[in-house]
Amino acid sequence: MDDKKIIFSGTQPSGVLTLGNYLGAIKNWVELQKDYRCIYAMMDLHTITVRNTPADIRRRTLEVLALYIASGIDPDENIMFIQSQNPNHAELAWVLNCYTYMGELQRMTQFKDKSARHAENINAGLLTYPVLMAADILLYQTDFVPVGKDQMQHIEICRDIAGRFNSLYGDVFKIPEGLLSKTGAKIMSLQDPVKKMSKSDPNPKSYISMMDDMNVIAKKIKGAVTDSEGKVEYREGDDTKAGINNLLSIMSAVTGRSIEAIAADYQNQGYGVFKADVAEAVVECIRPIREKYDKLINDKAYLSGICKNGAENARRISERTLNKVYKKVGFVI
Ligand code: TRP
Repeated sequence: MDDKKIIFSGTQPSGVLTLGNYLGAIKNWVELQKDYRCIYAMMDLHTITVRNTPADIRRRTLEVLALYIASGIDPDENIMFIQSQNPNHAELAWVLNCYTYMGELQRMTQFKDKSARHAENINAGLLTYPVLMAADILLYQTDFVPVGKDQMQHIEICRDIAGRFNSLYGDVFKIPEGLLSKTGAKIMSLQDPVKKMSKSDPNPKSYISMMDDMNVIAKKIKGAVTDSEGKVEYREGDDTKAGINNLLSIMSAVTGRSIEAIAADYQNQGYGVFKADVAEAVVECIRPIREKYDKLINDKAYLSGICKNGAENARRISERTLNKVYKKVGFVI
């Protein structure tokens, strides 16, 4: 094995994948593959903590994989696999459950939010979700975990659990660090731009799905909520400017140009012209990905092959950590 640092991250195959997922996560991962040994998983075990339709989970798992590959993550250079196809995740999660306190799990923001939203189904998996996530990360002796801001608390608890285990048994786990993506937190809803762009928003005009038709994408951007001031200007923290700030961030993320440079171009232009250009830039960013994606998604044999191979590789690596853990806690192996 080479001495590259290890990156681990993943996506839950629930809901449609949005432009926010692409710009905030997947696009950055494409960059990371040059310098790191990267492992990306489709987190289906996490997805059943809330009720989802089984056929949707199955379909979306392969959609996520196809989108990873279409976006430029090379399946020959990186490990991509389905979480449930490597049993080591569930096994380590059980052990770590016994080294995690109820109190710390009950304090997690996501648990509190999700139990409020799914009051009819506050199951034990919802509570122990962060333990499974800790297992995902720790199994691979991960150095860095690229995630959005909303996942940072999960990284913190993962570090706490790992540190606690290590202080009892010696250096079993590498303590990972969260890697905040540059643009991730900034992609907001097109209809209510003080809220994050979310695939679970009931209003589809508020987000851009990577699966939307090109004309739908353009229409959504042209229909984005802005303000009546008429100035294309970035004003951080000014909520009345949230819509324009968001369109500037999106334009910057898809073109790679700075927000200042873009704003300068539109100094003397109205919102109509600006929005039309943002729409075109987003469409041009998504179009080539979609063309690749459409081919891949119809090649089920190819995708299954990647998953099988990925799961074997993942298992081979994670087995080492799991065996060490089993030995330390006293299991006969
Ligand atoms: N909780 C993450 C999310 O909802 C998904 C996830 C599960 C994950 N296990 C992980 C991300 C391990 C990074 C590392 O986005």
